[in-house]
Amino acid sequence: MRIDIITVLPELLQSPFSHSILKRAKDKGLLQVNTYNLRDYTTYKHGQVDDYQFGGGAGMVMMPEPMANAIETLSKDISYDDIIYLTPDGKRFDQREANHLSLQQNLLIICGHYKGIDERIRQHFITKEISIGDYVLSGGELAAAVLVDAIGRLLPGVLNDETSALMDSFQDNLLAPPVYTRPADFRNWKVPEVLLSGDPKKVEEWRHDQSLQRTKQRRPDLLGDF
Ligand code: ADE
Repeated sequence: MRIDIITVLPELLQSPFSHSILKRAKDKGLLQVNTYNLRDYTTYKHGQVDDYQFGGGAGMVMMPEPMANAIETLSKDISYDDIIYLTPDGKRFDQREANHLSLQQNLLIICGHYKGIDERIRQHFITKEISIGDYVLSGGELAAAVLVDAIGRLLPGVLNDETSALMDSFQDNLLAPPVYTRPADFRNWKVPEVLLSGDPKKVEEWRHDQSLQRTKQRRPDLLGDF
């Protein structure tokens, strides 16, 4: 899978993809992440990519021309399944969307800054608008890192244990059950007996029950779909 990202801060996106699971995904050739500096696509002086908003008001808007130029230049060589704009007024990102996006071949992600991008770019190029939560970030880069991480770990062959992504919270609209490791007795805080029983059926039942209880307590909204 290939994910291209248009940003004014490519440096901010170097580190998140250079460690751990995403690094492994890249090293194995399962995921390619490319960042493109929007300033390389402007014809304005001094690398200008933003301007005052029509109608007045505080805050700059990212100009349509450099963005259209960047999108069109990249789209000449690659056919994107989706061109995603990260914005607080987009559809809230969730595991279902991560699953869906992980099945695509080529994605282009646009990171906004300041007041956002010119509305005409949204209307004419963007195929999907995504928010990572009901709060405002100073730019789309950290949201892009969240998206790429959530998508990248789902690609077949990225996680060592193929089943482990399937057992994540949210995969079946339930939160994950509690987990324990050695020692079985730590400061007299004991691991539930059933996990030491060696009976896989009982363990599975216990985990499912714990997931259900945890979801009821913490996220009853998830059970609405049940
Ligand atoms: N850009 C700024 N805030 C954002 C958010 N909450 N989600 C996605 N992109 C953003």
